[in-house]
Amino acid sequence: MASASGLVFRPPRCFTARNFAPFCVSRSGLLLRCCAAGEQALGASISKPRIPRLVGMGSKIVGCGSAVPNLLISNDDLAQIVETSDEWISVRTGIRNRRVLTGDETLTGLAVEAAKGALQMAEVESDDVDLVIMCTSTPDDLFGGGGQVQRELGCKNAWTFDITAACSGFVVGLITATRFIKGGGYQNILVIGADALSKYVDWTDRGTCILFGDAAGAVLVQACASEEDGLLGFNLHSDGHGQRHLNAIAKDDKNELTSNMNGAPLFPPRKSSYSCIQMNGKEVFRFAVRCVPQAIEAALEEAGIASSSIDWLLLHQANQRIIDAVATRLQIPSDRVIANLANYGNTSAASIPLALAEAVRGGRVKAGDTIATAGFGAGLTWGSAIIRWG
Ligand code: ACO
Repeated sequence: MASASGLVFRPPRCFTARNFAPFCVSRSGLLLRCCAAGEQALGASISKPRIPRLVGMGSKIVGCGSAVPNLLISNDDLAQIVETSDEWISVRTGIRNRRVLTGDETLTGLAVEAAKGALQMAEVESDDVDLVIMCTSTPDDLFGGGGQVQRELGCKNAWTFDITAACSGFVVGLITATRFIKGGGYQNILVIGADALSKYVDWTDRGTCILFGDAAGAVLVQACASEEDGLLGFNLHSDGHGQRHLNAIAKDDKNELTSNMNGAPLFPPRKSSYSCIQMNGKEVFRFAVRCVPQAIEAALEEAGIASSSIDWLLLHQANQRIIDAVATRLQIPSDRVIANLANYGNTSAASIPLALAEAVRGGRVKAGDTIATAGFGAGLTWGSAIIRWG
């Protein structure tokens, strides 16, 4: 079957017939037996590949959604637990409020809600999603959050994996999605940025606890004709030398070690947990205002676009002063800068899709608009993408 454009082929489903065990062709071409209807075998969805796959296509974002927790914590609320003030926080960062998970709320729940919004806007059914990319550093499960999101969304024909790249996670995930479409023939990919850094914040450290909030944002990236391609350029970097400036290190709980008579540790050797976020704010600030404009300029060059032609600048929402400095360097006027960190603080991998969803749903960003976006943060990692919306 062909789509309206004639370029996107809907691959055949399993070859099923009444009274016959259904068979599918795996990616390697092997014939696989599917589970009979009603069987609850784990992993049954591996027998539903989407073939044939076309490669070399374009990709574009066709839907977006977001979700935030219910609990709002204002700067004045924080001033009751650490020595700070609304004035200090808002002048130095631009942040006034943030949302934090409480009670039964989970990161998975936020990610699912955001993804549902993206699917709804894209008019894509969960069955038609090929891949769920979960960009997070704070999954509900150490082994990854994508599986829980896939399960809750009912994306039974998709597979999933997590990307851990802190505040650069969403940009890395977005670019990864386009590679699966261009190189692997995938058609519908959910990219979710979701983080709950509140779990790893030291709420007695005024230097960090004022900055972060929890949220999720999602986009649906879809295959399209190459001339409609919506990813115009990108540029990705990391520098592990900067890890010392921003981290939440896994640490061994020394008290739980048992040792033999000679003092040598015995099995079980160690039990680990993560320490709270440690940050040298000044170094991270300097790194961001130096490296982010360079990454955007490189992506613009690849796209063959001048910064004056960009409709919107949408940076990771870390600090309004960083956003202003990058915009000044790129000579992008403030009325073309998207910022919502006053309401949510730094939501790590969620910040870009959260701001994008608000700008699109609020009618600011319109079909055909060009957006320069960039993420930066722990790793250190940073990266940019020039995208055309819709
Ligand atoms: N309230 C009041 N005073 C404070 C607070 C506070 N919340 N925090 C620090 N101060 C004090 C300090 O103790 C210091 O006092 P002193 O001069 O007496 O020693 C003074 O204010 C200045 O502190 P600095 O840390 O130098 O303040 P700075 O202007 O650098 O602002 C900030 C700190 C807001 C953290 C800034 O450095 C920043 O935003 N950095 C970038 C962070 C970032 O972008 N992170 C992104 C990645 S996050 C990720 O990937 C997970």
